[in-house]
Amino acid sequence: MTSSLQDNFIKKESLYGAQNYSPLSVVLEKGEGAYLWDVDGNKYLDMVSAYSAVSHGHSHPELIKTLHDQSSKLAITSRAFYTEPFANFLEKLSNISDFESVLTMNTGAEAVETAIKAARRWGYFSKGIPEDDAEIIVANGNFHGRTTTIVSFSSDSSYKDGFGPFTPGFETADYCGSCECGLIDNCLSIKSFEKKN
Ligand SMILES: Cc1ncc(COP(=O)(O)O)c(C=O)c1O
Repeated sequence: MTSSLQDNFIKKESLYGAQNYSPLSVVLEKGEGAYLWDVDGNKYLDMVSAYSAVSHGHSHPELIKTLHDQSSKLAITSRAFYTEPFANFLEKLSNISDFESVLTMNTGAEAVETAIKAARRWGYFSKGIPEDDAEIIVANGNFHGRTTTIVSFSSDSSYKDGFGPFTPGFETADYCGSCECGLIDNCLSIKSFEKKN
């Protein structure tokens, strides 16, 4: 049961927001460490947080200070300019990930779109695949986001209905793990997919 205060915000969000999500019926007001409070003062242990994104908890004093210091000096610039924090960030991420360079994205869907582009260009330019013949094998039951290309290879009709025509160039195979063969590197469902095609 939600209170009338929470109901008020839930109704407002439904009225003015596009109907593309179904949040849990709780209206959050503040967070500290691993805890959250709703607008009625009820306290929760946050075990969901920014699911499928990196969570850094709530209101960590060091993060607040860094945010405050940087935004008081320079908040937002475009990639038309160089900045000191961005250069330092790229260096740090490259060092801790052990990848030679970094391409930053705003969303997971953009990252997947970029991986598709990188794989296709590698296929054409390095592997010698004839133009527009590239095929990427995707896992049955995948979820990678909601862009037109990504939903093109979804096996869930609720992500696709009414959004065609779709991007070609994807073939679906059962994900190793759903077939229970236990072979991982030599999965039988991938092998039977290869035989079929
Ligand atoms: C497994 C997985 N991949 C990709 C995405 C897409 O990420 P974004 O919503 O940041 O585009 C999500 C987000 O829900 C996800 O859960």
